[in-house]
Amino acid sequence: MHKNVKEILYTQDEIAFKCKELGKRIMNDYHDKDLILIGLLKGSVPFLAELSKYISLDVTFDYMDVSSYEGTQSRTVTIKKDIEQDVTGKDILLVEDILDTGKTLSTVKAMLEERGAASVEIVTMLDKKECRQFPIEAKYVGYEIPNAFVVGFGLDFNEKYRNLPYVGILKEECYQ
Ligand code: IMP
Repeated sequence: MHKNVKEILYTQDEIAFKCKELGKRIMNDYHDKDLILIGLLKGSVPFLAELSKYISLDVTFDYMDVSSYEGTQSRTVTIKKDIEQDVTGKDILLVEDILDTGKTLSTVKAMLEERGAASVEIVTMLDKKECRQFPIEAKYVGYEIPNAFVVGFGLDFNEKYRNLPYVGILKEECYQ
């Protein structure tokens, strides 16, 4: 275990098992649909890679990079990299590492709906439900977690720890 990790929450095997379970549900729900998996950079990359192994459908991939800034009045979401395809009439599954306040995903979801997507749903590896400030829920949730700062399997602190093969709680002294 990394020296800055206090506790491992989910091992590589547990994440793979969960991805298999989510993949089955997604296949069942989208077997007759034209599905685009949109990963939010950079955190969703390992989860998208693992999850998509268990979705044996003709899906396409796309990526979006958005950043969320805390201003004096409100938080703003800016698109740093947009998707490359027309989503009109398409069914979209937004793939995210963690759903926290819900600001990022509620903004991105509304944006894609405005562009004419047939449906926009969310699959998230982790859900900090108790931190929600915006009215948004994921259709598919890997694990619901309490309000702790977690790293690994794509999740970072100052761009580090994304490569850890597990999800763990970061020691408080690393960010205080
Ligand atoms: P939201 O817009 O508040 O839902 O923010 C979601 C984003 O916040 C995620 O994509 C992560 O980048 C980041 N985030 C929230 N909680 C954590 C955490 O515990 N560890 C690492 N990143 C987090």
